[in-house]
Amino acid sequence: MPGRSSLLGRFSALSAVTLAVLALSLGALMSRALEDLVLERAREDTAQFIRQHVPVYLKGIDLSRPPADSAASRRLADHVHEISIGSHIARVKIWNPARQVIYSDNPAQTGKTFTDNEELNEALEGKVEAEISGLDKAENAGDRGGFKRLMELYVPVQSPGSTRVDAVFEVYEDLSDIDRGLARARLKVWGVLAAGMLALYFALFGIVRNASSTIDRLRREELALTEELRRKEILSSLGELSAVVAHEIKNPLSIIRGSAETLRRESPQKPEDDQLLGFIVAEVNRLNTLVGSLLDFARPRPAHRSPTDVHEAVREAARVVASPETRVQLELGARRHVLQLDPDQLRQVLINLIKNAEESLEGGGEIRVATADEGGSLVLTMDDTGHGIPEEDLEKVFLPFHTGKATGSGLGLPIARKLVEAVGGQLRLERLPGRGTRVRLVLPAGEGA
Ligand SMILES: Nc1ncnc2c1ncn2[C@@H]1O[C@H](COP(=O)(O)OP(=O)(O)OP(=O)(O)O)[C@@H](O)[C@H]1O
Ligand SMILES: [Mg+2]
Repeated sequence: MPGRSSLLGRFSALSAVTLAVLALSLGALMSRALEDLVLERAREDTAQFIRQHVPVYLKGIDLSRPPADSAASRRLADHVHEISIGSHIARVKIWNPARQVIYSDNPAQTGKTFTDNEELNEALEGKVEAEISGLDKAENAGDRGGFKRLMELYVPVQSPGSTRVDAVFEVYEDLSDIDRGLARARLKVWGVLAAGMLALYFALFGIVRNASSTIDRLRREELALTEELRRKEILSSLGELSAVVAHEIKNPLSIIRGSAETLRRESPQKPEDDQLLGFIVAEVNRLNTLVGSLLDFARPRPAHRSPTDVHEAVREAARVVASPETRVQLELGARRHVLQLDPDQLRQVLINLIKNAEESLEGGGEIRVATADEGGSLVLTMDDTGHGIPEEDLEKVFLPFHTGKATGSGLGLPIARKLVEAVGGQLRLERLPGRGTRVRLVLPAGEGA
């Protein structure tokens, strides 16, 4: 169905793109937040670590100026080494408040002063400063390489109870372990997001598919209702019009026929003219029958119901219609079916149906009529071996004036259905496998059965 597939198709494409964009943005945001959180935590831990260990390991060591000699230098290096053992600290530099390097892993820098270091300036004011480092500052020239990612941290160290910064420890923390943990956590975040979005997508898909098939069903039902309403409106206005026209035609017709008959009777004509007058009478008779059918269809006369033997009515109709070439086979069973119906109307319906069946045989074949009880109704089936009806015409033949015959009125079936439906019955046609047509007439048994 085009409506349904296009709605579903549009939804699938749109929601897939939306959910993918949502998942990507959420994933990027969460990864970023995770990394910020972990690095913040690492920064605090390392700062705390330095502040706790400096008073213990560097007790009594003067951090205000570079070591006086190489022995003092070695001692300081040993103590710093003790601090960083077992931690992720990869490099250490110690600055005094005059921005002079007191200690560095790179001994060549000891004693030098670097004034253009902004983080150092901030740390000297008492703030812990951190950034992810590529070791790109001037004083780190020669220290790069060997590490993937480092966190550069400036930790001010103060004497207990003082607000004055005695020294700043510039430490480089190796982030390899943290990065591995982060990668694992990110993988989980992406996995959970992907699974969540897929579940959401399929849940939404199910809902939309159901909604879309409901919409389609409602649309179909609405269409069928509109069609039925339209058909009824057409039938009703056609009926009104037919009744007026038929009624107005009746009188002129009888005057034409009367005049033609009087002429033939009272003033003898030449044989050719007499034949022409005969045509007039015959055609007026045909028109009269048509007008009668039109009136039957438009304004059926009121039904006079009485107990009516259906099998008897079938036999009578078959007798009226039967021709020598047509075999009408009756399989009516012994049981009588007496229903509360108008006998004339029932006969009219049966004659219309048998006539149609006979006409479909086109000169030779068989008609079989059978009855059966079905759920409290009498079901009459009339099968013929005639030319049959195309599938698409099975309902159209019940529209007035729909005829497949040169001289047919197309009113036989519409009248029959109208009469049958008036007593709560049903009439429809079916195609028989191979060849022929089945008429299925259902009559409610009612209280007269
Ligand atoms: N048993 C059948 N087998 C094949 N076609 C049928 C059969 N019954 C009806 N039809 C088709 O349905 C059309 C409509 O039938 P309907 O009885 O309403 O009108 P008609 O037979 O054409 O005209 P009228 O009944 O006035 O003679 C027929 O013209 C015929 O094409
Ligand atoms: Mg007919």
